[in-house]
Amino acid sequence: MNGLDVGKLREDFPILKKKINGKELIYFDNAATTQKPTQVIDGIKYFYENLNANPLRSIHTLAEKSTKAYIDAKEKIAKFINADSPDEIIFTKNTTESINLVSFSLRFKPGDRVATTMMEHHSNILPWLRLKPYGINVDLVDTDENLELDYSYYERLPDDIKLVTLTHESNVSGTINDVEKVVKLTHEKGALVLIDGAQSVPHMKVDVKKIDCDFLAFSGHKMLGPMGIGVLYIKGGIAEKMNPFLTGGEMIKSVRLDNVIYADPPALFEAGTQNVEGAYGLGLAVDYLSKIGMDNIEAHEKELTEYALKKMSSLDNVEVYSGKSRNFGAIISFEVKGLHPHDVAYLLDREGIAVRSGFHCAQPFIEQKLKQHGTARASFYLYNTHEEIDRFIEALKTMNKKRS
Ligand SMILES: Cc1ncc(COP(=O)(O)O)c(C=O)c1O
Repeated sequence: MNGLDVGKLREDFPILKKKINGKELIYFDNAATTQKPTQVIDGIKYFYENLNANPLRSIHTLAEKSTKAYIDAKEKIAKFINADSPDEIIFTKNTTESINLVSFSLRFKPGDRVATTMMEHHSNILPWLRLKPYGINVDLVDTDENLELDYSYYERLPDDIKLVTLTHESNVSGTINDVEKVVKLTHEKGALVLIDGAQSVPHMKVDVKKIDCDFLAFSGHKMLGPMGIGVLYIKGGIAEKMNPFLTGGEMIKSVRLDNVIYADPPALFEAGTQNVEGAYGLGLAVDYLSKIGMDNIEAHEKELTEYALKKMSSLDNVEVYSGKSRNFGAIISFEVKGLHPHDVAYLLDREGIAVRSGFHCAQPFIEQKLKQHGTARASFYLYNTHEEIDRFIEALKTMNKKRS
C-alpha cells in the first residue's frame, strides 16, 4: 500500500460525485486534462472577489495584490520544479505555446539541426517542421519494438545540432524517457535540450537542476490547475540570448517609434495582460500536489497501472500497447480487437467511464510505430482507485460478450 488516502482526497473533487449516463463517473482521461479540487475552484472565486486587477502596471492597492498573486505563483512553481529563481518561469497558455515560444525565439540559422522524436505529441513535432522551409534540418529519433527511444542517436549527435527536444513521458505508450542521459550527451555536444513535461510534471517529482535541462514545458490543466495557463522554464542565462515571442504591452522598457527597448526576461516573453487567475489557480494546484507529495502520487499511480496492466493482459479480446518499456507512467493505450477505438470509448462512456480514443495528437507514432489508426487510452491520476479499474475491466469483458 502507498501513503495516499484516496478516499479522503476524492472528497476534494466535486465532479467525481457526479453521475454520467446514470453511472458513477470513472474518470480515466487524465492525460488529456485532470479534474480540479475545491481548493483550486474556490481559490479562483476568491481571486476575483478579492485580488482582481491588471497586474504589473497600475500602482493602486488592488493592482499590487494582483501582482503579488502572480509573482507568488511563479515562486511556488519555481520551487515545485526546483528552479533557481521565479525569473526562470514564463507563464504561457499551455505546453503547446511553451514549445512554440522556443521555436520562434531561439536564434536558429539556416543549417542548424533540431532533433525531436517519433513518440512526440504533435505540439513537439509541428513547431520544428515549421522551421524546415527556413533551412533548419529536423531529425525524428526512432523508437524500438519496446517503444523505447533509440538512445544511440544521442551518442553520435550530428555536429550541426542546435536543439534536442523530447517528451519526458509519451502520452500514448506511457514510456518514460531517460532525459538525464539525453541532456548529458547533448550538452557534451554543446547543444540545448527542451523537455516536454506535459505528462511527467503532474505525476512525478521533476527537478530541473537534477535533469539539467535548458527548457521544460508543461500545462496547468493536466496537474489539477485551470485551463489556459502553462509554464516554460528557461534555465538562467539562456533567455537573454533569445528573441521576443509576442510583442505588445508590458514586454518593453521604452517605445519610441524609431527605437524600441525590450524588457528583460521573463517579461520579454509575457506580452499583454497576464493570466493571473490561471497563475493563481496553478499555484494552488501546486500547493495541493506538494501537500500530498509527488512521491506518494507516483507510487499510487504505479500500483494502479501495474494492477490494470495485469488484469488487461488476462483479457483475450484486448491488446495493450503500454508497459513494454523499462520505465513507464500511468498511461495505457489499448485496443479491443475488432472494435474501432471510438466505439470502445462510446461503450465505456455508457458505463460512466471516460477514456480518450483516436490518435491522441500523435499520429506519426500511432500510424508508423503502432501500425494502428488510433487506440483507446486509459490514464490515471491520484484520485483513481483499484475498484474503478475493476469496473473498467468488467466493462471491457461485457464489450466482448456484446460482440459475440
Ligand atoms: C506529451 C504532451 N505534450 C504536449 C501536449 C499538449 O498540451 P496542451 O494541449 O496543454 O498544450 C500534450 C497534451 O496532451 C501531451 O500529452
